[in-house]
Order: sequence, then structure tokens, then C-alpha cells
Amino acid sequence: MSEKVTLSYDGKSVELPVIVGSEGERGIDIARLRDQTGLITYDDGYRNTGSCTSDITFIDGEKGILRYRGYPIEELAEKSTFVEVAWLLIYGNLPDRQELKAFSDMFTEFQVLHEDMKHHFEGFPPNAHPMAILSSMINASGCFTRELTAPNDPTKFRRHSARLISQVRTIAAFAYRKSRGLPSVYPKPEYKYTENFLHMMFSMPYDDIALEPEAVAALDQIFLLHADHEQNCSTSTVRMVASSRANIFASAAAGVCALWGPLHGGANQAVLDMLTQIRSEGDDGSKFLEHVKSKEGGKRLMGFGHAVYRNYDPRAKIIKASCDKLLARLKKSDPLLDIALKLEETALKDSYFLERKLYPNVDFYSGIIMRALGIPTEMFTVMFAIGRMPGWIANFKEVMDDPKSRIYRPRQVYTGPTIRNYVPLEKRSAH
Ligand code: SDX
Repeated sequence: MSEKVTLSYDGKSVELPVIVGSEGERGIDIARLRDQTGLITYDDGYRNTGSCTSDITFIDGEKGILRYRGYPIEELAEKSTFVEVAWLLIYGNLPDRQELKAFSDMFTEFQVLHEDMKHHFEGFPPNAHPMAILSSMINASGCFTRELTAPNDPTKFRRHSARLISQVRTIAAFAYRKSRGLPSVYPKPEYKYTENFLHMMFSMPYDDIALEPEAVAALDQIFLLHADHEQNCSTSTVRMVASSRANIFASAAAGVCALWGPLHGGANQAVLDMLTQIRSEGDDGSKFLEHVKSKEGGKRLMGFGHAVYRNYDPRAKIIKASCDKLLARLKKSDPLLDIALKLEETALKDSYFLERKLYPNVDFYSGIIMRALGIPTEMFTVMFAIGRMPGWIANFKEVMDDPKSRIYRPRQVYTGPTIRNYVPLEKRSAH
């Protein structure tokens, strides 16, 4: 028997259907609300509004659960790889041997950028933020194959999406090398996805870096843990752009721009800046936390809190454990990790954070790992974008494959001036 809710308003009652998800989540289907009542709903920031149904990722914010296509993030982080998870998110199941090889072979086929794209890199000033370079070069990459900027063609999705996942790391590495005045290093066909990225970032044309397996595994896990996360700000942006039937490069470039914000993907860079600031002031974090709680200047404990998790972000737990392991294996210590651990320990005993259900999120420890790998702070959000690309593509595909999908067009409640007539310039008074 289908579930319904009854809404009473202005002496009338309407019944609205309730849709039930595979994990028991329920949503009131308001598709006919305005026709039946003249009402729309209002939900600033969409915190209580489902924009779609989706089969890709499930989050239970109260219990701290995250699953990609039903697989718990803890199992995937331990047993899978970023490339395998990318296939899982996009195509719905773990790949068989043949699918995995074909997918990896396409990454190799597309890993080199069109040589003319180097002129675009040369056009950026040395201090251009790599997220600005990434979003513009993703669209630029689409311009080098005319079919890519044509309206979306489902028969070419497999190749276009593989090209995007492959080239996002080449663009990122080239942006880093340019910012340091270093020569570009081309990818090597014999290297796997994450190995090739580290090679392009840190080798020299005459001297390949020694790829530490632990370092490759740690970064591959960072990419995997960032691969998708339900309808977050940047993924919703990708779906919004996809709903207009724009191509996959335009949708992904829009996702990069949304991710850049310090409240979203930019938080990993903000966490490192925060820890560095705390250390430079000789604070162990206690003074900083008092400042945050006083709300002076709107300072926040970056890397803490989440729009959905009211519990520990499961990704933060995994990354924290990997931090310890990697630093031990690389025989490195990091005073910023000590500050982060102290901040977490203190905050999780403090009523300000406990009352507001503020726990470490994915960004709180990820920067410590990236710092240990030699990745500069300004590239942290780019790492997030490389990781999130398969999730954006999976959501793009879900919009494109849905025969009922329409252009996303939210309503609003207008609160501006009511009707008024034009006043000629000579009759206008100073405001
Ligand atoms: C990501 O959506 C996703 O899935 C995102 C993501 C993904 O994988 O795509 O998980 C990735 O973006 C993780 C979040 C990264 N951002 C940060 O770490 C920035 C710091 N965190 C916050 O700014 C904040 O927690 C948000 C933006 C993450 C969530 O904000 P909300 O849910 O809108 O919370 P809010 O701003 O309404 O705050 C509620 C209260 C307020 O205090 P009161 O008005 O009740 O007194 O909690 C306070 C806030 O001031 N608060 C914080 C805080 N976060 C919220 N106080 C101090 N430090 C913080 N970090």
C-alpha cells in the first residue's frame, strides 16, 4: 500500500504521495503541490529537500554510514582501488578483469593532453590558483575534440568520461609544475593511475622519482575516499548543469568551481592554514578553540562539522588511521598532526562541539597525508577534485540516462519591491 501524507491549508486538504528509498528513507513527493494548492515549499539551502532519487551513494548522517553502490566505504578503502571504485560508481557494479583492463587502457590512451593546450598553461600568471586552472582547462580540453563540446552523445560517454578522469590528473600536474617554473613531465604508459600522477608531479625529465608503494597507496586511498558523497554542493552543481543537457566537460568544470569554496572542498587547504597558524602562534590549539567558541570574527574549526553527518565522518576515521601508518612508514613526524590530534581530543570533550554534533570530517586529516607526500597546500583541493571526478561523472550519467529528467528549475518566494512605475532621471531624489 503506497504511503501518503495529508496537507491541510486554507480549509482544504490534499494527499501527497510518500516515496520510500531502498534504505527506508522517505520523501514527500510534492510534484503536484503547486497545482493542487498554489503553494510551493521553502527550504533555504535544501537541507530538508531531496533533489532526486539516486542509486549511487548512501549516507546515514546520524550513524556515520557511507556506502558506494551498497559497498561500505571501510571495505572499499581496505580492499579496492580508486580506478576500481570509479568504475563501480559510474557503472553500478565492481568491474570484472576485462572491464578493469579496458578502463585502465583508456586512461593510458587519453593521458596526454593535446600539445596545443600548453599555450593555455602559458597564459596563466605564475600565482594562478590551480582550481582556476583546472576548471578552465577541463573546458579547454573539450575544445580539442569537437564532438566533446557537442550536446551530450550517450554512445560516446564511455570514452569521454574516461578521458576526463585520465586528463584531470595531467592538467593538475601540469598546473603544479607551471606554478613552480618546472618543465612538464609527461605520463608513462607503464604506470598505473595514481603512480602516473605522482610521476608527473615530482619527476624531472631526466630523473624519475622513486615511487614509494606506501605513498602511492595512501594517495590512491585519498582519491577513493573522496570519490562520491551523495548530493553535496559540487555534485548538485554538476547535476544542475547536466540537466540542461550541457556536455560532460562543462558539467565537471562547474563542479570544480563549486568544490573550491572553503566551506566545501577548499576546507582541506583551510585546515592546513589553520594548523600552521596555530603552530606559528605557539598555541597548542586551546587558545584557538576558545576563539572559535567565542564566535569572534566568525572563526571556525576547519575540518569539523558537516551538513549531513551528525556523527564522526567515516572517511575521517580511515584517513586518521592512514596518517599514522604513512608517517611511520616514511619515517616522518609532523607537528601539525600533533596539533590536529590535540584539537580533536579537546573539541570532542567540549560541550560547544558536542551540543552542535560537530565531529572531524574528511578534510580534517587529509591534508596531513598530502603534506607528507610533498603535495603543496594550494593543490589540496585539486586532489579532492581528482578524487570526486568519478562521482560527478556517475551523477552526470544518472541525469542523462533518466528518460524523465527535466531541466532543474527551483522556484523562489519573492520578497522584493511590489509594482512601481518608472521615474524619469530628473525626477529622482537621492536615496
Ligand atoms: C565537505 O556535503 C558534503 O557531503 C560535503 C563533503 C563531500 O564529501 O562532498 O563531505 C566535503 O565539504 C566537508 C565539509 C568541509 N567544510 C569544513 O570543514 C568547514 C568547517 N565546517 C563548517 O563550516 C560547517 O560545519 C559546514 C559548512 C561543513 C556545515 O555547516 P552547516 O551544517 O550549515 O552548519 P551551520 O553553519 O548551520 O552551523 C551550525 C552551528 C552554528 O553555531 P550556532 O549558530 O548554532 O551557534 O554549528 C556551528 C555554527 O557556528 N559550526 C561550527 C563549525 N561548523 C558549524 N562552529 C565552529 N567550527 C565549525 N567547523
